[in-house]
Parts: sequence; C-alpha cells; structure tokens
Amino acid sequence: MTGSPFDGARCLVTGAGRGIGRALADELLARGAAGVLLIDRDETALAEAAAALDGRARVFACDLTEPSAPGSAVDAAIEAFGGLDLVCSNAGVLVEDPDFANAASADDALWALSWDLNVMAHVRLARAALPAFRAAGGGRFLMTVSAAGLLTMIGHAPYAATKAAALAFAQNLAITHADEGVQVAALCPQAVTTDMLQATRRPEAAMASAALGAQETADAALDGLAVGRFLILPHPEVADYARRRAEDMDRWIGGMRKLRRGLAEGG
Ligand SMILES: NC(=O)c1ccc[n+]([C@@H]2O[C@H](COP(=O)([O-])OP(=O)(O)OC[C@H]3O[C@@H](n4cnc5c(N)ncnc54)[C@H](O)[C@@H]3O)[C@@H](O)[C@H]2O)c1
Repeated sequence: MTGSPFDGARCLVTGAGRGIGRALADELLARGAAGVLLIDRDETALAEAAAALDGRARVFACDLTEPSAPGSAVDAAIEAFGGLDLVCSNAGVLVEDPDFANAASADDALWALSWDLNVMAHVRLARAALPAFRAAGGGRFLMTVSAAGLLTMIGHAPYAATKAAALAFAQNLAITHADEGVQVAALCPQAVTTDMLQATRRPEAAMASAALGAQETADAALDGLAVGRFLILPHPEVADYARRRAEDMDRWIGGMRKLRRGLAEGG
C-alpha cells in the first residue's frame, strides 16, 4: 500500500499467537509491512496464526520471561528481514488476586511472573532493539500496556502494579530516545474481547467501557503510531478517567471503593 507509514516495515510482534498481537500482525501486513516476525511461547497458536497470514509472516517460539529470549527474538527478526523498523512489545499476563478481598494475596511467584513479562520483557526487547534502530537511523517501539497502568484494576494488584511500571518505562524510553529517531508509544486499552479477558473470573473489573475487538484495538494502535502519538487510548473516555484521577486522587479512590463493593457483592 503506497503512502502507508508501515510500507516496507520490518516488524516483530510479541504475543502474536492470538488476541491483540495477532491482530497487530495482521494489520501491519495489510498496511504494507515487508515482514512480520510473530513471537509467542504457544507453538500451535503461532503456526495457526502464520497459516492465516501470508508468506511475509515468520514465526519464532520462545518464552519471553526467559532473560535471553527477547534478544534472541530481535536477532531472529534481523536475520529474517535484514533489519528491524518496528517492535510491538505486546505479550502480557493478567494475574488476579486469588482472594478478591486481599490485595496482597498473590504469592511471590505470581508477582515475579507479572514483573518478568509485563515489565522486563519490554525492557529487554528495547535493550536488544535500540542498537538496530540506531543502525537504521531510527525505529518504532509500540508497547501494549493497559488502561490498568493509568487507572489500576480492581482485584488485580500484580497486573495493575506491573502495568503502571511498564507505562513509566515507556515514558523514559520515549523521552530518552526521541532525539535518536526512536518513536515510542504506549497502547492503553480497557477491555478487549480476547482469551485473556475470557480467562479472568472478574472481567467486569476491566469493563468501565464497552469491550472492543482485537482488530479495532490494533487499528487504533497503528493509527496512533502513524500520527506520532505516545499515549494511544482505543477507549477515548480513559483520558477523562485519568484526568479526574490526577485532579483529585482522594475523591477517585473513594469512587473506586464504591465500585469495588459493587463488584464484591456481584460475587
Ligand atoms: N484483553 C484485554 O482486555 C486487554 C486490555 C488491556 C491490555 N491488554 C494487554 O494486551 C496484551 C495482549 O493481550 P491479549 O488480550 O491479546 O492476550 P491473549 O491472552 O489473548 O494473548 C496473549 C498471547 O501472549 C502469549 N504469551 C503469554 N505469555 C508469554 C510468554 N511468557 N512468552 C511468550 N508469549 C507469551 C500467549 O501465548 C498468547 O498467545 C497484554 O499485554 C495485555 O495485558 C489486554
């Protein structure tokens, strides 16, 4: 597609076996990408996703919580396509509090998993991609965070805390590397109808707004990236919630308590 900012782009997408990652890969190819390396730990999902896409899609299976995996993924993309222009660091894990009435009930292993994937996988991917971006005179790094990183998520303390940390890292990356031609964006949707949302016992905790589809979310992500936005909000009302939270956090906490009581009574 001539004129698309993704025309000829060499891309890597993590968590691309399903959900938002698969939709991002699909949309990048539709917008003219030269190649997309699909990364996931689920080999069956990867094979299915690649079969549904065209020959410009390649796959690389790895567990991104392994410290060396993000670097290997970047190397594989460079080997496959001869360079790297766009990283969609999208894979994440949604850990809910085992006891909804106890925000500290997730054990250390669940916190470590959340930290390793929701924060360190982004850091390690950026560490590996930055030299390639420098060599190419620039690049793009799209990080799938969540509205939970801006607003918290009731009943999901490890998720909310690690997504807030991911957003803080994205801000640092954006500030530090813009002068090198590196564009960074943070995608912060509320509910998206994927397996992740279906697997949680309390999907309503993510549903202040109507859920979007993965494809609509991927569309919004690439549209935002194309116009150089840092904060990409597929649910635009999230900007208003974040503003109200920033204006008066005590009042906002009061409102969230009411919401929590309602969720607790709902079962
Ligand atoms: N679905 C939502 O409501 C929603 C809302 C806001 C943000 N997000 C974020 O969007 C991103 C994608 O979520 P989704 O809803 O598409 O999830 P999903 O569960 O549908 O897909 C996630 C993919 O990541 C892969 N994955 C998980 N752990 C991995 C690991 N350690 N190494 C490699 N691959 C791994 C899974 O195999 C899966 O294919 C996540 O970062 C999530 O936090 C989702």
